[in-house]
Amino acid sequence: MRLDRFLTETTELTRSLAKKAMHREEVRVDGEVVRNPATRVDARSEVTWNGERLALVGLRYVMLNKPAGVECSARRGLYPLVRELIDLPQVERLQTVGRLDVDTTGLVLLTDDGQWSHRVTSPRRRCGKVYRVSLAEPLVGDDLARAVSRFAEGIELEGEEKTTRPAELIMRTATEAELTLYEGKYHQVKRMFAAIGNHVEALHRESIGPLVLDERLAPGAWRELTEAERAEF
Ligand code: URA
Repeated sequence: MRLDRFLTETTELTRSLAKKAMHREEVRVDGEVVRNPATRVDARSEVTWNGERLALVGLRYVMLNKPAGVECSARRGLYPLVRELIDLPQVERLQTVGRLDVDTTGLVLLTDDGQWSHRVTSPRRRCGKVYRVSLAEPLVGDDLARAVSRFAEGIELEGEEKTTRPAELIMRTATEAELTLYEGKYHQVKRMFAAIGNHVEALHRESIGPLVLDERLAPGAWRELTEAERAEF
């Protein structure tokens, strides 16, 4: 690949800043100062910027057990970002695959492979996301039967043109629900339970399609996906 592209892939430099760095003689290839941005380099070339060796990192696929109080966003706002929990080079390139609210815990996927991310979130794949939901009010008897059928049929949420896609509700206890969604509207789980007069006190995502949160990951811990997990999408 061209040297300027190598620099943009391995540093935060834009192409024009990479060219400027070359003009300032900060960039060397195999020990020689190089000023021509079109110079061809590959993974075996020893490229340095200000004496620091640069290496192509390839595409990464990560699962994280998101704790409460961190944000699935690209820019820092009030809360720390999920990717700040991840100790990988060029971590700023990792994007979350969909989002969880700041107070929601559980499975978050991150990658720098935009096409893979798109495959995971594509509505055409009908990829079920399983949430464990702690409810403020017990949901039992006729109320439960009504909730199961309303969620299965799809319900109207304020501000949405379309009803929700059919969702599966199972109660583990009177206040602990397991809800499987096949889409991801804003605050969807909380809004669905609010629509039936209940309130979500805690929300945890257990799985996305075939990818299940690794139970060995403590809140805040992460690991790279295995090849087999990555190949699921
Ligand atoms: N639904 C919500 O309400 N919040 C989440 O974080 C995920 C799904």
